[in-house]
Amino acid sequence: MTGAASAVLAKGAYGFNGEVVIVTGAGRGIGVGIADVLAEAGATVIVADISVGMARERADTLRMAGHLADHVQIDVADEASIVRAHAQVVAKHGAPWGLVNNAGILDRQLLLEATAAEWDRVNAVNSRGVFLLMREASRAMVEADRGGRIVNIASAALIGSLTYGHTIYAASKAALMGLMRAAAFELAAHRITVNTIMAGGVATPGAIQSKGPAPEGPARRRPPLGMCTPRDIGLATLFLASPLAGALTNQGIAVDGGWSVT
Ligand SMILES: NC(=O)c1ccc[n+]([C@@H]2O[C@H](COP(=O)([O-])OP(=O)(O)OC[C@H]3O[C@@H](n4cnc5c(N)ncnc54)[C@H](O)[C@@H]3O)[C@@H](O)[C@H]2O)c1
Repeated sequence: MTGAASAVLAKGAYGFNGEVVIVTGAGRGIGVGIADVLAEAGATVIVADISVGMARERADTLRMAGHLADHVQIDVADEASIVRAHAQVVAKHGAPWGLVNNAGILDRQLLLEATAAEWDRVNAVNSRGVFLLMREASRAMVEADRGGRIVNIASAALIGSLTYGHTIYAASKAALMGLMRAAAFELAAHRITVNTIMAGGVATPGAIQSKGPAPEGPARRRPPLGMCTPRDIGLATLFLASPLAGALTNQGIAVDGGWSVT
């Protein structure tokens, strides 16, 4: 991350003025970087995480820094939890302007050893949960009739930044590209955009503690611009989630430190 990337953003950057943006998995890792930049720019950030303790702590930290933030407990693997958490946000803050589906599981299994149970566990969070929360949020956005933004966090695994064990994970992230395309088409009439960030390797707790075979493979190549930080992913997400990005939909953007040119 360059010095400029770490500079605190001005309130009102990219046209934000208190718009409510839900960020899943914002209790730690990449979600923290996304929540930070959105809050700095002037969004009202809803830190949504399965860990209510981490979610509350992040929202408190943002508010203590003078930003607008709240938290909600959500398990994106559980439809009832998604519906309840989303309704809770709407009751307190109104329909969301934006949704960032960032919560994810990074565990790996070799295809030759992979199980249906692991497929179901990873996809419940990485793809099914994204679909369900997109449905809830876009229903509220359509009813509010103000437009809206959906940004999903996929992976540079989709452009070849693979390690052994990525079969189920890459498939769960590839599902987000199909979801994006079809939803962007259906929601364009409501001025709601849907875009995807393909994040490169970021040293987060989830990446460091991920289970699976030794992570050998093309993803071990060093990106020419260096490893990304959560804030780097956040800065790209910020624009896609912003009021100014109204003409940009159905785009998958790799934020991978230039890995793809190696
Ligand atoms: N770190 C990387 O190298 C990398 C690379 C590409 C893509 N990504 C993607 O970025 C996203 C964030 O990953 P990260 O590296 O910050 O991981 P992380 O494990 O450090 O953080 C993930 C967050 O999601 C939350 N979460 C997990 N399951 C949840 C559930 N069922 N419901 C609600 N919240 C849940 C966790 O509590 C945690 O706060 C994921 O979608 C991941 O696939 C990460």
